[in-house]
Amino acid sequence: MNELKTNVLYFGDNLEILRNHIPDNSIDLIYLDPPFNSKKDYNILFKESSGVESEAQIKAFTDTWHWTQIAEDIYHDIVVNGPLKVGKLIGALHDAIGNNDVMAYLVMMTARLIELHRVLKSTGSLYLHCDPTASHYLKLVLDQIFGPANFRREIIWSMETSSGFKSQANMWIRGHDTILMYKKGKNYNFYRQFLPLDERTVRRYDKVDDEGRRYKIYYERGKEPRIVYLDKSKGRPVTDVWTDIISFQTVNRGPEYLGYPTQKPLALLERIIQASSNEGDIVLDPFCGCGTAVVAAQKLNRRWVGIDITHLAINLMRNRLKDSFGIKAEVIGEPKDLAGAKSLALEKPDGRYQFQYWSLGLIGARPLGEKKKGADKGIDGVIQFIDGAGGKPKRVIVQVKSGHVGANAIRELKAVAASEAMGVFITLEPPTGPMKVEAVDAGYYHSPVYNKDYPKIQILTIEELFAGKMVDMPPQAQTNVTFAKAPKISKKEGEQLSTGI
Ligand SMILES: C[S@@+](CC[C@H](N)C(=O)[O-])C[C@H]1O[C@@H](n2cnc3c(N)ncnc32)[C@H](O)[C@@H]1O
Repeated sequence: MNELKTNVLYFGDNLEILRNHIPDNSIDLIYLDPPFNSKKDYNILFKESSGVESEAQIKAFTDTWHWTQIAEDIYHDIVVNGPLKVGKLIGALHDAIGNNDVMAYLVMMTARLIELHRVLKSTGSLYLHCDPTASHYLKLVLDQIFGPANFRREIIWSMETSSGFKSQANMWIRGHDTILMYKKGKNYNFYRQFLPLDERTVRRYDKVDDEGRRYKIYYERGKEPRIVYLDKSKGRPVTDVWTDIISFQTVNRGPEYLGYPTQKPLALLERIIQASSNEGDIVLDPFCGCGTAVVAAQKLNRRWVGIDITHLAINLMRNRLKDSFGIKAEVIGEPKDLAGAKSLALEKPDGRYQFQYWSLGLIGARPLGEKKKGADKGIDGVIQFIDGAGGKPKRVIVQVKSGHVGANAIRELKAVAASEAMGVFITLEPPTGPMKVEAVDAGYYHSPVYNKDYPKIQILTIEELFAGKMVDMPPQAQTNVTFAKAPKISKKEGEQLSTGI
């Protein structure tokens, strides 16, 4: 295996990427937030507004969490080749639970957790984000893989859920996620984190010395009383119940929310990373979605590795890292030539969508996702720009075709683009003569700011994009679209705020 590459995103199945690209004992901190084993969560996540399951997500989730031949094969592999204790547990659970979705989920997670344990340094820790539908099973598995003595904490992330759809349930309102924390070895990194003191505690510092400093007398059994100054207090050490970080499940989501359904708040990842790693360390998120862990790692001057199985997530992360820090992330596992692009488009069952998300990324377009409504129906992606007084955003709309194309497709794009600034047609197959004529016939978009004409309809082939051709348009100053633009983030300066114990 080659040396570990850092500050990269991998497209693909994390099991395969872990096995082929991530060396033993190379990672300092792992955070994983896999899809939960909850039918309800799937439905919220992966059904379009019509209630039809989103094809693009089917590969990632259905294959992974149903009892298929792959699950059966991995089950055998764990029992036969896995660590003995883990094989025993999985065999016993299989006896008890049977061949169903829960068991498929556990088998798939177990195979990945064995690899994650392998790649973690002895000073490293793993944080597994889950919910009550799976946490009890996963803890059994983690106890076998890491050893029960290496279990550190069950963190309860308590969320404000008194509003929003979750508060409608005629039941105790579900108000928390569970994060299981394990260390690998005896000496592991941990730095306590602190919250501001609460008012009641502050009031106890009720004396003031000659210099105006507030203090209290602290009594400890068997010791002399001592003076404790308020301005010396680090605050309240954070416990294993976290109530101060607001989830995106609430109504008021704020500018940080990009629109990715399972997006976690940066504050949550920053806390984990600051507590369990040092600057320069390597943070791995093998299910990284829209990349909250990698963004938090970058902000806190850590190195990072992110893996996701959908081009939608990879594309979002690429945009997020660019918008937040101005960095162009390297993505490993994307098509690198025409043949690779063709085989991506042919992949079953959702190659068409994967191709779409990937190729939108080539021109910096943002995917509209799968919930296209009304006028946006025929649009796959958008590039926004500001051009002219008033700053009202204009759109370059993008259509992507991986299959056969003809002049009709350009006529349709012209109709949709009529009320927009420009239209771009990305195609895997070369355009026909009549297609080119249709495109030229659309005329120009005139930029008042740059006093320049840009072809209103542009056809770009994948081959041309590989050769570096880009959309001919006014310079971008993008604004929000379906998946919002991430706010700029300044990297943290200075040293660790908290102290190690
Ligand atoms: C719950 S989301 C993670 C959200 C993330 N914590 C964030 O803040 O955006 C789970 C992610 O895992 C990805 N995924 C599912 N199965 C995978 C696999 N086998 N390999 C890699 N990624 C996978 C999905 O595409 C999805 O983006």
